[in-house]
Amino acid sequence: MSSLVYRLKAFAGFWLKADTVYQVHSPLVFEWVQTVLEDERRYYAFDDIEALRQQMRASPLVLDVADYGAADEQGAPLCRRVSLRQLAERTSSSPLQGRWLFRMVQWLHPQRVLELGAGVGVSTAYLAAGMSRQARMVSLEGCPTCAQVAEAHLDMLHLSDRVRIQSGPFAQTLPRALEELGRLDLAFFDGHHQGAATLAYFEQCLPYAHEQTVFVFDDLYWSADMTEAWRRIQAHPRVTLTIDGFELGFVFFNPAIQEKQHLLLAPVCWKPWKRFTY
Ligand SMILES: C[S@@+](CC[C@H](N)C(=O)[O-])C[C@H]1O[C@@H](n2cnc3c(N)ncnc32)[C@H](O)[C@@H]1O
Repeated sequence: MSSLVYRLKAFAGFWLKADTVYQVHSPLVFEWVQTVLEDERRYYAFDDIEALRQQMRASPLVLDVADYGAADEQGAPLCRRVSLRQLAERTSSSPLQGRWLFRMVQWLHPQRVLELGAGVGVSTAYLAAGMSRQARMVSLEGCPTCAQVAEAHLDMLHLSDRVRIQSGPFAQTLPRALEELGRLDLAFFDGHHQGAATLAYFEQCLPYAHEQTVFVFDDLYWSADMTEAWRRIQAHPRVTLTIDGFELGFVFFNPAIQEKQHLLLAPVCWKPWKRFTY
């Protein structure tokens, strides 16, 4: 089954089953949904980042990209030429995902943030824009050209003082980043879209998570293999709550949530009639 057909089928299944804020009973989840999925306030940062995306779309630049997500058995990346336009449109977080990441940061107030997969810096910018000035973020990116472009973009957005982009394969950069940060308040996994790799990075980050930490995963429905990895993350004994918003998956470790829950939640605008059902 092609990736697009798999995603479309998965979205149909999600959409049929998903609840909205109107069906949420837990105060913590209610507050989270109101802040992350439902808050419609626009921030200047959104306009600045989307203006940058428009510039990338209009750019004639073609980059030599080293893709460690498609590395061979020896770990050598697949090298190809990709336009900046394609990177902005196809591999970067969407405006909706960006807004959810920004609001997630505003809700959680993390001081130590890790990103796996900076790409050309779109999600990095949304995360950093929501962070306080004292907070620190390390963003890992395998492709040196993408890492340079991401750094330039953060500079243009005046966000580079909060973020350090580390170039190199995750196998080398992740242990050092974890040591540097010391603990993780928020981690965004958006790199290597293979189930086994995703689970390995999750396990590697887990010792640095505490009770208030949130892990965010992209591409839950990229492939059956990624969906299986998501199911295994949900089943992990340390995980107390997961929220599947289709576009992103949120993992909580808070022991105050006594009964383990896995919620499928959509913004009300995706299912407006749910306003009338409790
Ligand atoms: C989907 S893109 C990231 C997009 C970015 N988070 C955004 O939303 O704007 C994934 C990135 O992860 C990087 N990546 C994938 N596997 C990697 C690995 N094993 N080590 C280092 N980087 C990797 C790729 O080079 C690519 O730029």
